[in-house]
Amino acid sequence: MPSPVALSQASQARDAERGELTRRFSPRRGGKLSRARLPLSARRLTVLIKLYINLSLFLALVINYMAANLRLDGKVAIITGGASGIGEATVRLFSSHGAAVIIADIQDSLGLSVATSISPPGRCNYVHCDVRDELQVAAAVKYTVQTYGRLDIMFSNAGVMGSLTGILDLDMNVLDDLMAVNVRGTAAAIKQAGRAMTAAGIRGSIICTGSVAAVRGGFAPAAYSAAKHAILGLAKAAAGELGEKGVRVNCVSPFAVATPLSCGDGTITAEEIEGFASSAAALKGPVLRSGDIAAAVLFLASDESAFVSGHNLLVDGGVTEVNGSFAKVIQELLPRVSGK
Ligand SMILES: NC(=O)c1ccc[n+]([C@@H]2O[C@H](COP(=O)([O-])OP(=O)(O)OC[C@H]3O[C@@H](n4cnc5c(N)ncnc54)[C@H](O)[C@@H]3O)[C@@H](O)[C@H]2O)c1
Repeated sequence: MPSPVALSQASQARDAERGELTRRFSPRRGGKLSRARLPLSARRLTVLIKLYINLSLFLALVINYMAANLRLDGKVAIITGGASGIGEATVRLFSSHGAAVIIADIQDSLGLSVATSISPPGRCNYVHCDVRDELQVAAAVKYTVQTYGRLDIMFSNAGVMGSLTGILDLDMNVLDDLMAVNVRGTAAAIKQAGRAMTAAGIRGSIICTGSVAAVRGGFAPAAYSAAKHAILGLAKAAAGELGEKGVRVNCVSPFAVATPLSCGDGTITAEEIEGFASSAAALKGPVLRSGDIAAAVLFLASDESAFVSGHNLLVDGGVTEVNGSFAKVIQELLPRVSGK
C-alpha cells in the first residue's frame, strides 16, 4: 500500500503535468499550438509558404550562378556578316552570354530569321548593312547606340572569298569587290565603332576576322590572301591608335571551317572541308567548327582578355606554325637515327 505522503506527491506531479499540457496547448495562455492540432487548411498553407520560400531561394541561387557565368552581361555588340556561318555562331554565343547583339548583313531574310530565333525577344536585332558603304556602317552603329545606349563590341566579320582563280587569271573587278567587302568594310567597321566607343569613353573591344591566309601563302587565292593580310595590318595599326583611349583591337584567324563561304555553291561538301582541315592540322582529333571560332571571339570580346590588343588569335590546330610535311619526314627518320 502506498503511504498517504507518496499518494499526495503523485497527485501533485499529475496536476503539474496537466498544468504544463494546458499551458503548452492553450494559445490564450501563451503556449504554442502543436502542428498536429493546427487545422488542415493552416497546415497546407504552412507547407506551401515553406515550399515557396525554398523555391525562391533555389531560383535566386540559379540566377546568381548563371549571371556569374555570363561573360558579356550588359554588353552591346554588332556582328557584321552575322546572318550565316561564323558570324551566326558568334551571334548565338554572344546572346547566350547576356549581350545584346545587332546583326549587320545583306542577307535580310536570313539575318531576320536568326535575330527572331534568339530569346528573349529584343536581345537580338537585324539591320541591313552593306559594309562596302561606310554610310551604312555608320547608320548601323548609330542605330545600335540609339536603341541600346552604347556599343561595347564590334565583330567585323563580313567577308567574301571571291573567285578561285590564280594570280595569272586574276580579274581586277573581282579583286576590287573582294577588297571592298573584306578590307574597306573592315576599315569602316573599325573606324565607326572606334568613334562611337571613344566618344562615349567606352573601353570597347573590336575583333576582325582574319584567316590562316593572313599569315601564310598557299591557303587561298592571291586576292583573298592579300585582303586578309591587309585586315591584319589594319587591326594592328588601329590597336596602336585606339589603345590610347582604352579600346582593344584584335583578329581571330580561322583555318578552314565548313560554311557557305568555304563550301561555295555546294561543289565542296562540309565533310570534305572538315576532312581537309583535320588532315592538314598538326592537332589531331577535334574537328574545326564555327563554334570554335565563336569561342575565340568571345574570349577577345570579354573582359577576360582585358590586356590583349594587337593580337592575331589563330584557331588553326597549329597548321601555320607546324610544317606538316616536314614533321612527317622527321617522324619517319627518327626511329632510324635513334636505332629503333
Ligand atoms: N569558312 C572558312 O573556312 C573561313 C576561314 C578563314 C576565314 N574566314 C572568314 O570568316 C568570315 C565569315 O565567313 P564564313 O565562313 O562564316 O562565311 P559565310 O558566307 O557563312 O558568312 C559571311 C557573311 O558575310 C556576309 N556578307 C558578305 N558580303 C557582305 C557585305 N558586303 N556587307 C555585309 N555583309 C556581307 C554574308 O551575307 C554572310 O552572312 C569571313 O570574313 C571569311 O573570310 C572563313
